[in-house]
Amino acid sequence: MTKKMKSRPERSIDKDKAKATAVQATTELEKESVFLDTTLRPDKWNDYVGQINIKKNLEILLKAAKERNHPPEHILFYGPPGLGKTTLAYLIAKEIGAQMKVTSGPAIEKIGDLASILTNLSPGDILFIDEIHRLNKTIEEVLYPAMESGSLDIIIGKGPSARTIQLELPPFTLIGATTRIAMISSPLRSRFSGGIFKLEFYNHDEIQKIITRSAKILGIDLEKKAGEEISKRSRYTPRTANYFLKRCRDFAQVHKTELTKKSVDEALKLLGIDEIGLSPFDRDILHTIIKKFSGGPVGLNTLAAALSEEQATIEEFNEPYLIQLGFLERTSRGRTATASGYEHLGLKPQTLL
Ligand SMILES: Nc1ncnc2c1ncn2[C@@H]1O[C@H](COP(=O)(O)OP(=O)(O)OP(=O)(O)O)[C@@H](O)[C@H]1O
Ligand SMILES: [Mg+2]
Repeated sequence: MTKKMKSRPERSIDKDKAKATAVQATTELEKESVFLDTTLRPDKWNDYVGQINIKKNLEILLKAAKERNHPPEHILFYGPPGLGKTTLAYLIAKEIGAQMKVTSGPAIEKIGDLASILTNLSPGDILFIDEIHRLNKTIEEVLYPAMESGSLDIIIGKGPSARTIQLELPPFTLIGATTRIAMISSPLRSRFSGGIFKLEFYNHDEIQKIITRSAKILGIDLEKKAGEEISKRSRYTPRTANYFLKRCRDFAQVHKTELTKKSVDEALKLLGIDEIGLSPFDRDILHTIIKKFSGGPVGLNTLAAALSEEQATIEEFNEPYLIQLGFLERTSRGRTATASGYEHLGLKPQTLL
């Protein structure tokens, strides 16, 4: 489920592109994931559980900016999908009373797209660029002066008659979000002068708090033990926790039972989710490394080919949790299954020898 759960057609600046993005959300799962994200997204800091350090830093940054009566400096959030990057951007916008324009790296195809977005900003606006690692390099270069000195350099014409005109932009805050920090070039990174923040996986108590709130919003009567079980399997990720909660509720409803630990066990078993939240595909990854590549190291491209999956999917959606569990290691020579990875699949770690 994990790799398909990611989908986030946001409110885009360009309506056609918003439509195009929305069309991508074709599967029921993706549509539901979008529905859950918007319905359950906290709109108060108090409801935004965890990430204490980021919240403290943002509090200072936003307060200082407010006192100077100037938009906050540009901010970058990174970390695995579903941990709350987009939610933070909305909370910031609400906190400073700014209008937030939302777009994404792949939606900005031409320099003209970016120029039109930037020139349509009003003073104090927030521009949220999701999947900012997917901005193409020539567009990225146009962004540098815009972020640094609030100006937009546009080249008009070609050849000897070409000339550059410089447009002054209104003061704005760029908030970028990415699941792939390694793909952000250092010149772009260095322009996020407000801070670069890494979102961490949540702990058990935090996830449980999130589930309890979500159950309340969705009108779900949740037994304590059932909530704990969902939390245990939710990969320390709020979006996954919310998704499992909904699936378990459906299961209990169809089977005309209460939402108990037993029904959670059965519902998640049906989805192929094991007792620590691994999906069938997560287990496939481990299994393939162990059986086909003698435990690794195996390069990501070779692994992806063996699994008939895209490298980005494995890297973004599956690996972070496997690494967090200590089942997989990323080394310069490729991916390696650890002794605990073997054990989880019921294989003898001595196979490592
Ligand atoms: N700290 C949190 N407290 C409560 N709920 C949260 C928190 N973080 C995320 N959520 C829930 O998880 C959902 C997904 O979060 P969000 O869309 O912000 O993740 P993301 O990091 O932007 O993911 P992606 O990388 O896929 O875009 C939210 O709609 C919200 O319901
Ligand atoms: Mg997001």
